[in-house]
Amino acid sequence: MSVKLFKNARIYTPRMGGAPAAGREQGKVSEFRDGCFLVENGRIAALGTRQEMGNALKGKSADKEFDLEGAAVIPGFVDPHTHACFAATRESEFSMRLAGVSYLDILKAGGGILSSVKKVRAASEDELFRFSRELLSNALRYGTTTIEIKSGYGLDVETELKMLRVIERLGKDTPQSVVATFMGAHAVPEEYKSNPDGYVALLTDEMLPSAARQGVAKFCDVFCEEGVFSVEQSRKILNRARELGFGLKIHADEVNDLGGAALAGELRAVSAEHLLAASDAGITALAEGGTVAVLLPATAYSLKKPFARARVMIERGVPVALATDLNPGSCFCPSMPFVFSLAVMLMNLTPEEALVGATLNAAWAIGAEKEAGSLEPGKRADFAALDGDSPAVLAYASGTRPIRSVWIAGERVD
Ligand code: NIG
Ligand code: FE
Repeated sequence: MSVKLFKNARIYTPRMGGAPAAGREQGKVSEFRDGCFLVENGRIAALGTRQEMGNALKGKSADKEFDLEGAAVIPGFVDPHTHACFAATRESEFSMRLAGVSYLDILKAGGGILSSVKKVRAASEDELFRFSRELLSNALRYGTTTIEIKSGYGLDVETELKMLRVIERLGKDTPQSVVATFMGAHAVPEEYKSNPDGYVALLTDEMLPSAARQGVAKFCDVFCEEGVFSVEQSRKILNRARELGFGLKIHADEVNDLGGAALAGELRAVSAEHLLAASDAGITALAEGGTVAVLLPATAYSLKKPFARARVMIERGVPVALATDLNPGSCFCPSMPFVFSLAVMLMNLTPEEALVGATLNAAWAIGAEKEAGSLEPGKRADFAALDGDSPAVLAYASGTRPIRSVWIAGERVD
């Protein structure tokens, strides 16, 4: 057994309850000044102030001690929404967007997601793995220790399963924990352009059952958006996914208020993502459904759209999580510190609310809450030591990387 003692830390952590932190709970973070924690075989065995820990440590001897030199220590970031499995960037499209062409118009013209589909179909599994591994190692430097990755650049049975195999391999061959989501309903592929309902039938009859048999993906996500999948089509796909045992997620009301948030609440989906255009009724439905709102402010920034109404969501009791959306199109950003600073500076979350959103609520949004998202006995010792006194430094030092070190299961990984 390996026993490690980490000392001289200012520990900031949310505390696990029976549900994602909503309303006032969203802003609750425990602080341990002069804190220390004991890690046994990669898991936190005890944690508290030096004084409190005096007793816990009696009779135990650590094999190794680490002095964190007074740094603020937070749980490793959980990034609960990414598309970090692709084969090439799409910078030329970004220039088109800057020149005024809309994201959905690029998709309609066969670019956007569909251009990534061409590249991913053509890539070998090794190529896809190598490209994506770089994305993950970049995210790791910014403190992301658990990451969700969606398929959705295959849009046929074979390539979707290939992506999920690569995502599984990323989980094994990178330090991070990876949670996979099946997103065959990311766009309607060219071959079904004139028969979108035919593609929905392919999803429900073949793709979802194959993904369920393969067993890698835990969740199913649908891009419910004008010109992509309607509310009716999304409901059909998600109901089938539920029958097959997937947890449900929806890209909801990202560009237009189609009623995706209301659908997420109605289906009691685990999470609804984006929500830039979500209506009041949609927000109420999320609160009623116990659905986590996964907000992606770096995407709003990159699309030059108004941010999601995070304050209204928190006030109405919707648990809010934060994510990067790392993808080649709408947001090529792996940095949770950047997302954190946007959430604090432009969505008016307090640093405490943003921390809960980027750790514990994010873990709930991907079913990782028992392992990650807070520094508490029994959980994996995944944490980041910051270059500052408190998590607020992530916004205070916007645009920098105020991270001294990143640890997974008690091992330094950055
Ligand atoms: O979350 N909206 C759909 N999916 C991604 C973008 C994927 C892409 O453009 O490649 C998003 O914004
Ligand atoms: Fe997305």
